[in-house]
Amino acid sequence: MRFRELVEAKPRLKYLFTGGKGGVGKTISAAGIAYYYANNGYKTLLASLNPVHSLTSLFKQDLRGGAIKKIEGVDNLYAVEVEIDDVVARYKENISRRIREFMKWADIPIDPKPFIEIATTNPAFQESAMFDKMMDIVIEEGQNFDKIVFDTAAVANAVRLIGLSKIYGLWLQRMIKSREEALSLRVKLSFRKEKVMEEIKKDPLMADLISLNEKFTSVRKVLLNSDETAFFFVTLPLSLPIAVVKRFIKMVTAYDIPVGGVIVNMVLKKSVAEATNNEYIKNQYQQQLHYMEIIQRDLGDQVVSYIPLYDREVVGIDMVGRVASDMLDYVPEFLPELLT
Ligand SMILES: Nc1ncnc2c1ncn2[C@@H]1O[C@H](COP(=O)(O)OP(=O)(O)OP(=O)(O)O)[C@@H](O)[C@H]1O
Ligand SMILES: [Mg+2]
Repeated sequence: MRFRELVEAKPRLKYLFTGGKGGVGKTISAAGIAYYYANNGYKTLLASLNPVHSLTSLFKQDLRGGAIKKIEGVDNLYAVEVEIDDVVARYKENISRRIREFMKWADIPIDPKPFIEIATTNPAFQESAMFDKMMDIVIEEGQNFDKIVFDTAAVANAVRLIGLSKIYGLWLQRMIKSREEALSLRVKLSFRKEKVMEEIKKDPLMADLISLNEKFTSVRKVLLNSDETAFFFVTLPLSLPIAVVKRFIKMVTAYDIPVGGVIVNMVLKKSVAEATNNEYIKNQYQQQLHYMEIIQRDLGDQVVSYIPLYDREVVGIDMVGRVASDMLDYVPEFLPELLT
């Protein structure tokens, strides 16, 4: 199915993600998708969860600072570059507060500092913080926008977290249940039941568990719904990026996360290869034909778009618009030959 058919067949698509190996064109594809929707009258948010501020250079507009800004020159298009350091700091503060409150509430007379250190300095912490932020964008901005396109650096991680959220949800439910049991036992054993009941209502751990569980449940429901959500994987006609995309698709499918399709970027045009005397480009073109065959063989029916290799970087609104239109309609001239 081509991108145009896909978006027409799925008018309710709302959360779109791009993933793939480094430098293959995830950001320009996300921008192309966002531009397409904005141009068709949908209020669209392009959200970057990357540590590098790629949208600022792509649109030549200062989008730093973590606030949603209107893209000048395109109606309905908004963008946000999430500031990782701020997100991580806030997340750390939150978790520290929870641990402190809990220890105080549970009357555990231990210095909470080491626990806080352990909880917030492991390598997955930053990714968890970004995932939490992504969930907040889905829940909060989902009400303000018709379409949200995520440019995520760590798709593999996001996918894992979405997958894990099922197990996490089960674990949370268990925690809630055993917390309830522990608390009701405390009520039973107590002589001053009213006072204990009051205390239980204030149990910070319980309140946190319940709200986290609600958040996970609602985001999971959205992200696993193939009418609303689609993950797109970007590749080049080269062996390594193709392998990465294949691995991603396997992983995503295993977690029941809906695959939108594969985008093949930087396709060298036949007309360009034929017009040049440059041996390098001619060789590149031959090599590309080889990998295109492999893409056809292994991913053929999943390819939704081909994006040609342009004679310049993708920078500025005009180029983003060109990407959007090529994503819809461009078919490499050599493709029909390749398919026969
Ligand atoms: N089809 C194309 N033609 C010409 N230049 C391109 C094309 N696609 C991408 N580029 C350029 O290649 C670079 C990488 O593209 P992009 O930033 O979209 O990749 P990415 O996958 O988001 O990279 P990263 O992993 O660093 O986030 C950019 O400078 C972009 O302008
Ligand atoms: Mg990028």
